[in-house]
Amino acid sequence: MEGSRKIDGDQFINLVKLSGHHTVRHKGKSGKITSSMLESGNIKRKNLGSSREEIGYEMRFLNEGYLEDIARLQEIMVQNLPDKEIFRLTAPEEFRELLAQKKTVISVLTEDGLIAYNMVCFPDENGDNFGVDINLPQSELKKVAHLKAVVVHPAYRGNELQKRLANIHLKVLQELGYCHVCSTVSPKNAISIQNHFASGFVVTGLKVKYGDLLRYIMYKNIFRTFAPEPEVVGIESTDTDGQKMLIDRGFAGFKIQVRNDGWQVMYGMPVSKLF
Ligand SMILES: CC(C)(COP(=O)(O)OP(=O)(O)OC[C@H]1O[C@@H](n2cnc3c(N)ncnc32)[C@H](O)[C@@H]1OP(=O)(O)O)[C@@H](O)C(=O)NCCC(=O)NCCS
Repeated sequence: MEGSRKIDGDQFINLVKLSGHHTVRHKGKSGKITSSMLESGNIKRKNLGSSREEIGYEMRFLNEGYLEDIARLQEIMVQNLPDKEIFRLTAPEEFRELLAQKKTVISVLTEDGLIAYNMVCFPDENGDNFGVDINLPQSELKKVAHLKAVVVHPAYRGNELQKRLANIHLKVLQELGYCHVCSTVSPKNAISIQNHFASGFVVTGLKVKYGDLLRYIMYKNIFRTFAPEPEVVGIESTDTDGQKMLIDRGFAGFKIQVRNDGWQVMYGMPVSKLF
């Protein structure tokens, strides 16, 4: 599981150095502020020796002026990833394309520069739309948005930034008229799965995506809260066939249960229609 890796001293310093900035920045192409503030406050940064320090942060939408920063943060995250299979890298041209669109990337900026981002995208009805993977009716596919990627710098993990960024982006998606939000997550990525559950997503698919990567397809209906029937089933996250069978029968995964020997995903039948 990704969440068990510790950062040693030298590695930590290198990670912070790589981020390379020393004031909260919010530049546009011309170096000027280009998007209004979504949120600000203090978060904790892990320092060497695992002491924690309060640091000011700002949340803003990012634009193309941040192409290098976002690629650098992805690189820092990858260097620290214990299992490369859990994160599908975003290519430079994908970053460029998304940053050119409004409201697709929300950032967290501190005196260290860009330390976290959440990215959404809007799939074509006939393209690679995860709505198809979960049998969403054809007429609904134009109302699907994808959570594409979320990254938090290792020194800033533990501030619930994934959840906070997702929740702000979900409100933005609602304002933009989207109804269905899908996201793919590796069954090995317990922290991200848990954060998706906390934001109201449920597991409605499990299949190979991006060529050869096993992924949960997680789904959230912006206008309906998921509630399971009383009878729930716990199943190991490694039991792919068992989970696929439950999903085929209409169950949805909605909670993680940690046990001594690992963790299970709890599946339940939705009390009302998901879509
Ligand atoms: C997944 C991710 C965005 C979560 O970051 P986050 O929002 O800071 O996580 P949380 O605040 O919910 O962290 C909860 C706990 O797990 C710990 N944690 C979070 N991510 C961790 C990681 N990758 N490794 C070890 N521990 C981690 C936190 O320190 C915190 O512990 P604490 O309660 O003892 O302080 C972050 O781990 C990350 O960038 N991972 C790599 C990229 C990735 O997997 N993205 C998601 C793809 S679907």
